Amino acid sequence: MSVNASNHPLVQHKVSLLREETISVKSFRELTNEIASLLVMEATQNLALINKPLTCWSGEISTPMLADKQPTLVPILRAGLGMLSGALAILPCAKISVVGLQRNEQTLQPESYYENIITDITERTAIIIDPMLATGGTALATINLLKESGCKNIIALFLVAAPEGIKVLQDAHPDVDLFLGAVDDRLNEQGYILPGLGDAGDKIFGTL
Ligand code: URA
Repeated sequence: MSVNASNHPLVQHKVSLLREETISVKSFRELTNEIASLLVMEATQNLALINKPLTCWSGEISTPMLADKQPTLVPILRAGLGMLSGALAILPCAKISVVGLQRNEQTLQPESYYENIITDITERTAIIIDPMLATGGTALATINLLKESGCKNIIALFLVAAPEGIKVLQDAHPDVDLFLGAVDDRLNEQGYILPGLGDAGDKIFGTL
């Protein structure tokens, strides 16, 4: 697994703005999508290219195009939806596979309550989008689900990650590459990232 914490100045600046205590819902949404676009750029930098013939204004050329089908975006409900339009700004043709997970109060493990994964997932890279990587439980369950569906290439994007969550994914899925806006200090007793952003879903949906 590669863990890629962005060193892009715009990503770092925008993540800092997201942390501001009194940030408005509008600014939080805008910044979340802007960072999502930048992380998708970073996460797609190694997509394979192949030279294909093209009729251009000046004649026949051979020119680089994506070798494989476009990646599918995988927002994890609900907060992942907040990154979707930013991700689609870079991958406008991407098909979308939606995953909804909730904690089983008996086992305390995340369980899927909704999944709608594209049928040709075996032929596409999946790009998971979720603002926060905290304990890693939800991301882990999503990766398991994608692999059970036959997905062979998985990338995961998070605005902010805790070291605890990174380790959980590294141990369980060393083949999955992570692209992160920031790596923060730790989790608190409630499982929130410190310094973090607070509840990203509430800030995106305005349900504070
Ligand atoms: N989910 C959030 O929205 N924030 C955290 O800090 C951790 C999980």
